[in-house]
Amino acid sequence: MTDANLDPIALVEPLHNTSGVLLRGCGSATPTRSISNDELGKRVDTNDAWIRSRTGIAARRVVGADESLGELSGLAAERALEMAGWKADSLDLIVLATSTPDDLFGSAPRLQARLGAVNAVAFDLTAACSGFLFGLVTAAQYIRSGAMRRILVVGADQLSRWVDWDDRRSCVLFGDAAGALVIEASTDGTDDLEGFLLRSDGSRGAVLQLPQVTERCELIGDASHQQGGFEPIQMNGQEVYKFAVREVPAILASLLNSTGTSPESIDWLLLHQANQRILDAVAERFKIPNEQVLSNLAFYGNTSAATIPLMLDEAVRDGRIQPGHRIASSGFGAGLSWGAALLRWSGPA
Ligand code: UT7
Repeated sequence: MTDANLDPIALVEPLHNTSGVLLRGCGSATPTRSISNDELGKRVDTNDAWIRSRTGIAARRVVGADESLGELSGLAAERALEMAGWKADSLDLIVLATSTPDDLFGSAPRLQARLGAVNAVAFDLTAACSGFLFGLVTAAQYIRSGAMRRILVVGADQLSRWVDWDDRRSCVLFGDAAGALVIEASTDGTDDLEGFLLRSDGSRGAVLQLPQVTERCELIGDASHQQGGFEPIQMNGQEVYKFAVREVPAILASLLNSTGTSPESIDWLLLHQANQRILDAVAERFKIPNEQVLSNLAFYGNTSAATIPLMLDEAVRDGRIQPGHRIASSGFGAGLSWGAALLRWSGPA
């Protein structure tokens, strides 16, 4: 094959200059239908008082018949591009962090097509509730290496299709949403990703899983193959809770320490929105006042890879997060996986 036959969509010109990362625009989208705790109590043996006091959640959004993960991701991405003032064809890469793609082969290329991001390479990244943070750090490496200039990172999940809606221990927690962030190479050495740490521990993976279930089917002669699908989400809530309140403060402390950052210099604590009690415990550990702890759990529940960009977008659009603000963020969840990042919000140029 000659160069002339190569698809130009797949080609990205290296910039050859290492660079910092700027956070330029964000966007989000949620399904229209909100389901309150009282409504959920009509389906499973639960009630508003229990869910609020144990989790801080009052309602969650669930993708309806005319909606999809692809649609939510597309809307969130369009809003992020609009905030940054960028055309989609200026993107070099799209990273879609999701554990619930519309297509197991990957949903990012469909997002690329929908946006008209004809110059972008697009792929999915799976790291459950840590997915957005892992995706952002991954994307930043392409910029830091000088390989790419503009990248879209989307965190989106539709866990409602994998929740056991008859399991009151888990179904009350989750909701659907998408959030997006667009980042670009800085030209003056500024870096909005001031530091990060990422961790995995597969030996504890069984405490929160969406496992495959297969049966053996005859193929030809003595050869067989496996056929099946996935079981609904299985969660040991208490173990996940203990994991979160132990590992999140520890990784944040390591990050603050390694970057020489004092908790007082942080403007916002932006954690994966899993449980208000987890947010409160982490804030207490670092003596961060309540008003600097971002939380929208009450309205959306745990939207997995979407929680951090969904919360970021809300706080940027309502003016709480201002250009120059520093954000300590941490994602954690199935895998087990967890991570922390020290971010700065630059906003549109
Ligand atoms: O991205 C990470 C995703 N996962 C998480 O973040 C989960 C982290 N874990 C948690 O948030 C909490 O463990 C839960 C909210 C899931 C549960 O709270 P808990 O305080 O750990 O409750 P528990 O599992 O110890 O259950 C206490 C009681 C039990 O009754 P008994 O055995 O004491 O009579 C449960 O059967 O509460 C009962 N229970 C419920 N009652 C009403 C459990 N779920 C419900 C419910 N409504 N939805």
